[in-house]
Amino acid sequence: MTSDKKPAPIYVTQPYLPPLQEFLPYLEEIWENKFLTNCGPFHAQLERALADYLGVPHISLFANGTLALITALQSLRITGEVITTPYSFVATAHSLLWNGIRPVFVDIDPHTFNLDPDQIEAAITPHTTAIMPVHCYGQPCNVERIEEIASNYGLKVIYDAAHAFGVRHHGESVLQHGDISVLSFHATKVFNTFEGGAIICQDAKMKRHIDHLKNFGFVDEVTVVAPGINGKMNEVSAAFGLLQLKGIDGALARRARIDQRYRAGLQDVAGIRCPAPAASTQPNHAYFPILVGPDYPHSRDALYQRLREAGIHARRYFFPLISDFPMYRGMPSAARARLPVASAVSSQVICLPIFPDLQDAQVDSIVELIQRP
Ligand SMILES: Cc1ncc(COP(=O)(O)O)c(C=O)c1O
Repeated sequence: MTSDKKPAPIYVTQPYLPPLQEFLPYLEEIWENKFLTNCGPFHAQLERALADYLGVPHISLFANGTLALITALQSLRITGEVITTPYSFVATAHSLLWNGIRPVFVDIDPHTFNLDPDQIEAAITPHTTAIMPVHCYGQPCNVERIEEIASNYGLKVIYDAAHAFGVRHHGESVLQHGDISVLSFHATKVFNTFEGGAIICQDAKMKRHIDHLKNFGFVDEVTVVAPGINGKMNEVSAAFGLLQLKGIDGALARRARIDQRYRAGLQDVAGIRCPAPAASTQPNHAYFPILVGPDYPHSRDALYQRLREAGIHARRYFFPLISDFPMYRGMPSAARARLPVASAVSSQVICLPIFPDLQDAQVDSIVELIQRP
């Protein structure tokens, strides 16, 4: 008897979950000490463990990456205009609006899909106070050029590093660059704490300031030094992060093998481009973007639809551009004519499923669907 049961859908990502049994001792400890939040023991342990693992000086955990971005801007007292990319998740620009800052969109580089440093200077005005680039898909920005421009014009740099957990640039953590980098530990990310995020900064004084800001501005029981927010990570998330960290190297290695398998399968498909990381990058394979060009026999959306009909839920990250959303599209820097590369990439991109539990046979079936005429 044949079964007409459809195979389970495959999503663009699936969180890496260690065996439940391994999490229970952490929960028992929380039940025992009754420390649920407010920077408890697991929070402290995870901050130390992540600083060691990532090779960064200071890290402050957050309830999510968006609150971390909003707080990062507050901590540096950023105002006026900030130069940023239209090719990202909306939270990048939304964090500016939440601070009353005007985003100024600048086009991206066609190879890295990151802010094009050659176009930053022309967008600087007397109101510009900072640059907020994104290491899109975990691909490092041109950090050297951005640092040079920032230092010449006296601007701060806040990297949205939501995709860049564990990425190294010339052998060092890419998170060491800029005044601040912000990570997301959302369930869809390479390293997750269900919801979560972090700010990486370069000195202890700044970390103290950020720690006050994420706890309503409290310094002690009776002293509040700033209109802070509640951005704290809870103990269950922090404990999960500690457990997740134990398996992270295996998870990253599996992602690398999936990446290779896709690349090998798609290398000869006319019209499909698989952007590759630079030789100076140790990537985290957080995403597997492909560009569907005019030489491919079908449009990007037709391929997206074909995959969907086969139960493959790939995603068109990042389409639409942030600058196309209603709260941004009236801004002069949001005009499509000023963002030709971002517009073209956004109309061609599909991110294919990639996560540690994705099986080789599933990768092969996705490749076969793309190869099919
Ligand atoms: C580039 C980028 N920035 C910011 C965020 C926001 O992070 P979170 O979902 O943890 O708030 C995300 C993802 O969710 C992201 O992809």
